[in-house]
Amino acid sequence: MTKRVAILISGGGSNMVTLADSMRADDHPARPVLVLSNDPQAGGLAKARALNIPTFAVDHRPFGKDRAGFEAELNRVLEKAQPDIICLAGFMRILTADFTAKWEGRMLNIHPSLLPKYKGLHTHQRAIDAGDTEAGCTVHEVTAALDDGPILGQARVPILPGDTADDLAARVLVQEHRLYPAVLRRYAAADRTPVFLSGEINAPS
Ligand code: GAR
Repeated sequence: MTKRVAILISGGGSNMVTLADSMRADDHPARPVLVLSNDPQAGGLAKARALNIPTFAVDHRPFGKDRAGFEAELNRVLEKAQPDIICLAGFMRILTADFTAKWEGRMLNIHPSLLPKYKGLHTHQRAIDAGDTEAGCTVHEVTAALDDGPILGQARVPILPGDTADDLAARVLVQEHRLYPAVLRRYAAADRTPVFLSGEINAPS
């Protein structure tokens, strides 16, 4: 049975596009059924529409501090789409334990650091400031704790002398676009063996 995948985004959605593209392969065990954003202006929504993927936005702002109300609306939309797997792909809202418990075992996230290092924001600047020689990205299952949960894959890149956070973010993003589709393919086939990639500079994405 082909797995149904919902992808949650907040921004440009480059990871969403690479996931959707990867699922076009005839032998892929999953297909995208929904792209959902907390921002009606998210650039990724137009990209998803261009790929003929149904889209929906639940603007978080009218809910203010009412996270439960916002998530109830997310759940309403998700339940209609009946996803087997939810991929958070640059989804920048913190989720409550109730929401993560509901989807636990079915929800993945990509985070731009080598977890468990640098949970949260500003990961690239923090890696540079710490004098690290290596950075990367992680795909993991989502649990109640932020940027935690079983690791399903990591890709590593070097940090070069003089790198800015933007330089590093761009280098890591190339690897995100390799890693997330590779993990999703395995996960959709019920294979949770972690994927480990080592990104050479200028490696093809
Ligand atoms: C990606 O770098 C992703 O790892 C990061 O946001 C970016 C989204 O880019 N996610 C997080 O920081 C989550 N904590 P995209 O919209 O082009 O995929």
